Amino acid sequence: MKRTIAFLRAIVLASALAVPALSAAQAPAARADDAAPSGATQDTASAATTKVARGKYLVTVAGCNDCHTPLKLGSNGPEPDMSRMLSGHPESLAMPPAPRLPDGPWQVTAAATSTAWSGPWGVSFTANLTPDAETGLGRWSFRNFKDTIRTGRHLGRGRPILPPMPIPMYKHFTDEDLEAIYAFLRTIPPIRNQVPLPVAPPALSTAASQ
Ligand code: HEC
Repeated sequence: MKRTIAFLRAIVLASALAVPALSAAQAPAARADDAAPSGATQDTASAATTKVARGKYLVTVAGCNDCHTPLKLGSNGPEPDMSRMLSGHPESLAMPPAPRLPDGPWQVTAAATSTAWSGPWGVSFTANLTPDAETGLGRWSFRNFKDTIRTGRHLGRGRPILPPMPIPMYKHFTDEDLEAIYAFLRTIPPIRNQVPLPVAPPALSTAASQ
């Protein structure tokens, strides 16, 4: 358990470090919101900040793109491929088995796209968050979304959501935040992309030997 928490911390740290690399296309929303006044009396003054804009802002600063939007190689190095915004691990990218790491402090590996991750939990592939009905969240109600984030289980009752999805942090989003994020996710272009199912760890021998 301690180790799992340590992994999550490492991942979240890595994720936080990656936030400044978000694409320029996303920056204006964040800046607009930063500049908006805060405080109860000024809430009405920020009426222009719609729920969807707030959701876009939260998705930007919470780093959802870091994992759910595949990286591509741009002229300045890896950058999120916004033509595939939040569509998760590309179905066209079949991953070979994850490398088996020797005992020691290196524990986690990630695909160059940042959409497939391997660790003691096995291999996880980031989900398609676009509103595509077949392969994304198109059929999800707000309740489905909220229950997933709050409980860390698929739809609130299915299998546990694996690392590195930062459930331990995100479950503290307020209802209002989750509503805004959900509202924004409904507005983005639906992308048909069937993300593979997670792969269980081959054996627990590495973990057991430590
Ligand atoms: C550090 C990487 C990372 C970040 C950041 C991240 N996710 Fe995830 N997310 C994942 C992974 C990996 C999965 C798949 C886990 C699994 O298959 O169990 C996932 C799964 C999900 C799921 C579950 C889908 C399902 O079918 O059950 C939702 C919903 C989700 N993420 C939404 C978000 C939102 C919204 C944000 C930003 C607020 C976000 N994620 C940020 C890695 C991340």
